[in-house]
Amino acid sequence: MPIVFHPTTNTFHLMNDTMSYILKILPDGSIGQLYCGRALRDKESFDELFETAARPMAVCAFEGDKTFSLEHIRNEFPGAFFGDMRMPAIDLKQENGSRVVRFRYKSHTIFSGKPKLEGLPATYVEHDDEANTLHIHVYDELLHVWATLQYTLYEKRPVLCRSVKVENAGSDTLVLDGLASLNLDLPDAGYDLIELTGAWARERSIKVQPLHEGIQSIYSLRGHSSHNFNPFLGLKRKETTETQGEALGFTLVYSGNFLAQVDVDTYNTARVQIGLHPFTFSWPLRRNESFQSPEAILVYSSQGMNVMSQAFHSLFRERLARGMWRDKPRPILLNNWEGTYFDFHEKTILEMAKAAKDLGVELFVLDDGWFEGRNTEHTSLGDWRPDMDKLPKGISGLADQINALGLRFGLWIEPEMINYHSKMYEQMPDWVLHTPNRPLSHGRHQFVLDFSNPDVVDFVFEMMKDILDHANIDYIKWDMNRSLSEVYSSHYPHDEQGTIYHRFILGVYDLYERLTSRYPNILFESCASGGARFDPGMLYYAPQAWTSDDTDAIERLKIQYGTSMLYPISSMGSHVSAIPNHQLNRSTPLSTRANVAYFGTFGYELDPRKMDEAEKEQIRKQIGFMKQYRSLIQFGTFYRLLSPFDGNETAWMVVSNDQKTAIVGYYRTLQEVNERYRRVRLQGLDPNTLYQIEGCDYDAYGDELMYAGLITTDASAGEHNLKAGEGDYLSRLYILRAR
Ligand code: GLA
Repeated sequence: MPIVFHPTTNTFHLMNDTMSYILKILPDGSIGQLYCGRALRDKESFDELFETAARPMAVCAFEGDKTFSLEHIRNEFPGAFFGDMRMPAIDLKQENGSRVVRFRYKSHTIFSGKPKLEGLPATYVEHDDEANTLHIHVYDELLHVWATLQYTLYEKRPVLCRSVKVENAGSDTLVLDGLASLNLDLPDAGYDLIELTGAWARERSIKVQPLHEGIQSIYSLRGHSSHNFNPFLGLKRKETTETQGEALGFTLVYSGNFLAQVDVDTYNTARVQIGLHPFTFSWPLRRNESFQSPEAILVYSSQGMNVMSQAFHSLFRERLARGMWRDKPRPILLNNWEGTYFDFHEKTILEMAKAAKDLGVELFVLDDGWFEGRNTEHTSLGDWRPDMDKLPKGISGLADQINALGLRFGLWIEPEMINYHSKMYEQMPDWVLHTPNRPLSHGRHQFVLDFSNPDVVDFVFEMMKDILDHANIDYIKWDMNRSLSEVYSSHYPHDEQGTIYHRFILGVYDLYERLTSRYPNILFESCASGGARFDPGMLYYAPQAWTSDDTDAIERLKIQYGTSMLYPISSMGSHVSAIPNHQLNRSTPLSTRANVAYFGTFGYELDPRKMDEAEKEQIRKQIGFMKQYRSLIQFGTFYRLLSPFDGNETAWMVVSNDQKTAIVGYYRTLQEVNERYRRVRLQGLDPNTLYQIEGCDYDAYGDELMYAGLITTDASAGEHNLKAGEGDYLSRLYILRAR
């Protein structure tokens, strides 16, 4: 289904089977919003949806027409100081000090496909018939500035992509002080706001609260998308649940500072905006220069939050992630970090690798500590030469030996960072982000390289090339362990300093682009002290990310459940670690640690030499299980069933595309005494298929499992005669196969 323009009413209708987005060129030349929601049949005019009211005190565009006030209509691209009175989508400072902008419609083009965004990550199409794009060109006649509003609607996905390009065709130098990638004015504010908030080791908790008058926002001012607020906003109706009701999801394909907000005015309309954070953004636009915003994504669901999340999952998996690993089941890895920290030698690593191979592991990842002098966090970042005391044969020699064991080899690196105690800092102190004459703040004892400076990016690229060209490396864990501070670049003049946060991220993207093109077979996993840069921008380059430094199974229930609001299972790095857990001291059964970690890109983060025989045998079985089911888990349809944020039980499931196989993960944090009956209503099954349920002693049709539920009661628990393996932190997997 197309994007149509009705010239008689100046109406654009972007539609597919699930959603419609309707715009209209208004009498003052601005673009008004008429509708965003469930698919509507097309017609010539939707003028009735253009609501106006003659309100006292309103600032009006035309003398004599009290009903046309930008303050009270829904605007697509509101400028500042022109009567809209809410937060603008663009803030453009002019040479005379004015910030008034007035963009009027000039022309539009509609075409199939989706253009690339130069230098920025974005969703894409493989064939032009997958999506249609609308460009609306609006123009400020006084300033001679163009803005191109780009809309791409996928044919078969409830996904609208938005971005804006601003071009200065005038002779004045302007300063772009703010540019939202998306502005959506909803006709009412009767929604709950969903956010993913957190901190280190407790990323992406789901928070839901009713919208209220005024601005509610989430943001990052840290230079990366952050542990604290993921670049995601959801809106759901009060009655919306995982399985029914309206939900809208918004995200930004970006990894740096962002602002996402909902501005509810006192007439109960809600303005949603997402884009670069204006506080750390100020971009000079000289004659003939242009600026491209990052891409915002809007997903609409009329069937609950799971459907909203699934639309994000398949979009990110299929049309955001790229490269050889995009559609491939991910290797089962062993990472040595929690097993050894900095304390290892080649001998240790080879022993661990041998033990890992014996368990069925496919990829060995050498984490932090492999480069010259890196025995603590205080030193050596930037000096990316192997520590020959620890690794006498270097990285290439180690990789060869690991390959000889029948394992692939992966390496940790933190390319954006530098320690004060490093040869690189001695030689290039100016390459650190720092403000002249001010002391530098420390973070994990390290400083941040000035990635806004292309010379620095070139240097780091050459340095990484040197490692990757000379060793057989199949996987890179790209870490980033501190936020940016004293952000200033000696590479740029004073009037460009407002560009540095954004240029930093563009530098990171440039390096990722160069490395992923030069080494197309390497699997990249992004990481930032766990999940501080788990965002759609990163997924364009690295199809998986380390979800959190917290590897405790019970904490991971919340972290992975929250992460699934937006991100697919195939993107979530999740590992089984040793007990007592290193973050919490909690001891959970090995079965539960695996039952949680299966729902991600599976691996182990421990020293396999320290496991006893019984544990090793259990791990062999776990790895065998994951090899059998990882395609289904990582590429099937994921459903959230019971939320760890609501109570003692968590459940989720994945269903194969043909609905013949499904796996349910069921987790109960604390054992209850004399407990109630329990059932979980499943989702996504074929109601008419009879399923054999491994993990239960009965068969059931899909309808019973979805409408009555899967019985999870422990009949014996009330009598205090718990079986071995039951009690706190219990978990079970149920495997459903069509009979
Ligand atoms: C970060 C990562 C960890 C580990 C350490 C190494 O904290 O999130 O997984 O790689 O760095 O220093």
